[in-house]
Amino acid sequence: MDAPVAAAAEHLQGLLGGRRPEVLLTLGSGLSGMADDLDDAVDVDVAEVPGLVGSLVPGHASRLRCGALAGRTVLAQLGRPHLYEGHDARAVTRMVEVAAELGCSTFVVTNAAGGLDPAFDPGDVMVVDDHLNLTGHTPLRGLLVDGAPVFLDLGEAYDPALRRAAHVVAADLGIELRRGVYAGVVGPAYETPAEVGMLRTLGAHAVGMSTVNEVIAARAHGLRVLGLSSITNVHGHAVSTSHEEVLEVGARAAGPLARLVVALLADA
Ligand code: HPA
Repeated sequence: MDAPVAAAAEHLQGLLGGRRPEVLLTLGSGLSGMADDLDDAVDVDVAEVPGLVGSLVPGHASRLRCGALAGRTVLAQLGRPHLYEGHDARAVTRMVEVAAELGCSTFVVTNAAGGLDPAFDPGDVMVVDDHLNLTGHTPLRGLLVDGAPVFLDLGEAYDPALRRAAHVVAADLGIELRRGVYAGVVGPAYETPAEVGMLRTLGAHAVGMSTVNEVIAARAHGLRVLGLSSITNVHGHAVSTSHEEVLEVGARAAGPLARLVVALLADA
């Protein structure tokens, strides 16, 4: 573990007032409202924690909120840093490393994503089965453990049991779930029609500007991962995509997504 991670973890633990988070819940665009459901919560401004960076993007808060949700102690990350803001992969994934250091064993990562599968509709929720890391970055670059590179197995990066549980719980709640492969890109430009065609050919069902590096870091630290995408726009359904649309439709998917996460945590 590097020094910024240790320092950030120690500082953050001091701000959590004795709470011991078990689950890191990263909330994507339009999904921050879920953090309101945490009981007995404490709020931390990311800027207060040395080594952590927030997001500069309008509509993305930069806050942590730690509290109880469905009987579990959850650390919610509202507003994550992105590669397109100029951060490197280690900065983007430091929150995950800090959460691992604090004792979190599960990472529930949500994001806003563009649908590539024409059967998807805006407002859908997709369980991430797997990803394509097309960012050209990895938090493992330059990382040596005991003097050697980390050759990480990503054969089951998205925990099969958590994915199965998501489908069972969603069926109980009457929430229709999509599933598929999430392609992670740097952004911040949305995709050209040619890129949409390429991503479909590569086998992706959704595309977004986050998640893949965070998941690599989480697996490197042994966390179980559940990935949930809120499909805010579907390529091919409309000619153009806007940040405002992403935030607005993301907020629409927030209700079902929150109910799903609460039921899953209660179940686990
Ligand atoms: N592309 C990339 N990232 C996104 C999109 C998209 O269409 N929608 C929401 N995040």
